[in-house]
Amino acid sequence: MKAKNIIIGITGSIAAYKACDLISQLKRNGHSVTVVMTREAEEFITLLTLETLSGNRAYRDMFQLPDKREVIHVSLARKADIIVVCPATANIIGKLAGGICDDLLTCTIISSASPVLIVPAMNDNMYRHETTRKNIRELRKIGYKFVEPIHGNLACGSVGIGHIAGLKEIAVKINKILAQPRRG
Ligand SMILES: Cc1cc2nc3c(=O)[nH]c(=O)nc-3n(C[C@H](O)[C@H](O)[C@H](O)COP(=O)(O)O)c2cc1C
Repeated sequence: MKAKNIIIGITGSIAAYKACDLISQLKRNGHSVTVVMTREAEEFITLLTLETLSGNRAYRDMFQLPDKREVIHVSLARKADIIVVCPATANIIGKLAGGICDDLLTCTIISSASPVLIVPAMNDNMYRHETTRKNIRELRKIGYKFVEPIHGNLACGSVGIGHIAGLKEIAVKINKILAQPRRG
């Protein structure tokens, strides 16, 4: 497959560190990876780590001065062949379902015409909550794809559905989406 521009959106989940392996794998496959993280994600993982692994500048702030005369979220959105939110919190899923654009990641996603893949990771009660179920249904309706979490040990100490899916499954899904012809 031809090299693609992949945006990895990272949110404030305990599973944020798993994005590191995904970034490394996508790079090994020849893709260019750019990270956009939320402020809460930085409680779990640093911009420095993500820039080092991706080999590209990693972004978090909406209002930082751009390198060139470009609006950051719009230029990131334009270049992306796919946006993968991994891990995706209940919060970002709710914000995307509600059209809320109050940070760089949500603004980038909503400015983009590229496919969006969401990889949720959360506590089992959060995942089963009717609000989360409804938000996921809404996002599926508008064409967002998901890699569902699995049953397993959760950071809160319980065991249930909400553990982030395996790297292999996520990578397979990304490749499958990238192989499909783009609409529009
Ligand atoms: C230790 C810890 C782990 C967390 N892990 C998760 C998680 O896996 N999934 C989730 O939806 N929220 C998790 N949260 C809550 C989110 O960090 C919180 O909802 C935050 O506002 C998400 O912001 P963001 O979606 O903008 O990154 C966690 C919070 C803490 C303190």
